Amino acid sequence: MEKFLIRGSSTKGVRGTLSCSGAKNAALPLMASSILFNSTVTLKNIPLGAKDIQTMIILLKSLGSQIKILKKKKILKITNNKKHKLLVKYKYISTMRAGVLVMGALLGKYNKCSTALSGGCSLGPRPIGYHLAGFKKLNCKYILKQGYINISANKGIKGNKYYFPKVSVTGTSNLILASIFARGATVLKNISIEPEVLDLIKFLKNGGAKIYFEGKRTIKIYGVKKLKGHSHEVIGDRIEAFSYLCAAAITRGKIKINKINPRYLRSEIKILKNIGCKIKINKTSIDLIRTNKLKPANIKTAPFPGFATDCMPMMMAVLARSNGKSKIEETIFSNRYMAAPELVRMGAKIYIKGSTATIIGENNFNGADCISSDLRSTFAIILGAIAAEGKSCISRVYHGLRGYSDLYKNLKKIGVNIKRIN
Ligand code: EPZ
Repeated sequence: MEKFLIRGSSTKGVRGTLSCSGAKNAALPLMASSILFNSTVTLKNIPLGAKDIQTMIILLKSLGSQIKILKKKKILKITNNKKHKLLVKYKYISTMRAGVLVMGALLGKYNKCSTALSGGCSLGPRPIGYHLAGFKKLNCKYILKQGYINISANKGIKGNKYYFPKVSVTGTSNLILASIFARGATVLKNISIEPEVLDLIKFLKNGGAKIYFEGKRTIKIYGVKKLKGHSHEVIGDRIEAFSYLCAAAITRGKIKINKINPRYLRSEIKILKNIGCKIKINKTSIDLIRTNKLKPANIKTAPFPGFATDCMPMMMAVLARSNGKSKIEETIFSNRYMAAPELVRMGAKIYIKGSTATIIGENNFNGADCISSDLRSTFAIILGAIAAEGKSCISRVYHGLRGYSDLYKNLKKIGVNIKRIN
């Protein structure tokens, strides 16, 4: 399995300009939604280098979608000439949470499917109870049998009201996909308004779906007969952008990130400024310079537009190098501090108690052998290694390759002393 060998430095800062990839967590629901279309869907700015995207391509092909990949242009052309298979096999979604999204699309189009419970990062339990409760409201019945959810709406999907007990990103997307062709109207309350969900809504509306906001977190969906395939450019990946901004923040570096809408990172940019980074934003780019000592910060993660849980592990690594005591309150997942013990091996002082992390900033990190355990922890550990004196060997980096396109190439491009070893 691939490992990264990084020779870090406590004085040398990363330097360079990177272009953000398309957002993995926008591309995946968009790809799943292609099931709803009978005419060709063209998706641009697809982060083809992210393993989850390859997994979703294989999954859609297993169901019967024809997919043309224009690698250089990062374009997918998806056509559905025949009825999809309705069995979503475990082997295709065991590593990818977003696999659950084909359930909503298959239900929306065929009123039934049999889907394996999906896998994904082990951030704590990854239940889909909200998804299933919502589908039940739409006239579906289901049973769980040998790890598969067999679900169907015998008399067809019928519009209804559903209130999400907690904001759920893929739950929101899944219920939208299931409601597109419903009889009557569906009202979804307490929905996720993450940029990736809004990108899906925009794509569906441009294809003829009737989706209207009735409040900050309330949408109404009027069922339509069919959708028209069209072309759509995936939004930039805000989590990837933030990850590389943190590479400059943790190393007295200087970085420019292009092809990103800074409005997606308002809460996170505010924190980077508060701890002493100089940030300049333009319409589609963010510049960060860090020249002085980092100040501590207190952070509480929350659904968008709050501080993103996906950005928290990288922020934790940066705060571990600040001067003073910081606190992080993780409110979304119960097991999101997987990078902490690995950063402690490098000399970080991080104390976890329940959902709270207390960080005593420390200036002397030393390289260490580390193991990555989930997508965003991988980048947090890489940040620690870049800022540590000496060599770090990070194993199981495949977790990071699930969500970061060109991770190795980009790190090299900004001056990280990195080697890939198998
Ligand atoms: C999405 O996961 C993202 N994944 C995650 O990104 C991200 O961390 C998460 O949203 C939160 O922003 C994709 O979009 C593919 P949730 P998702 O449903 O949809 C609980 C990454 O790094 N919940 O918003 O699975 C759940 O346990 C990944 O790219 C239920 O209890 O997350 C969690 O506590 C990691 N029942 C909270 O809600 C449900 O039915 C939010 O989960 C659904 C969720």
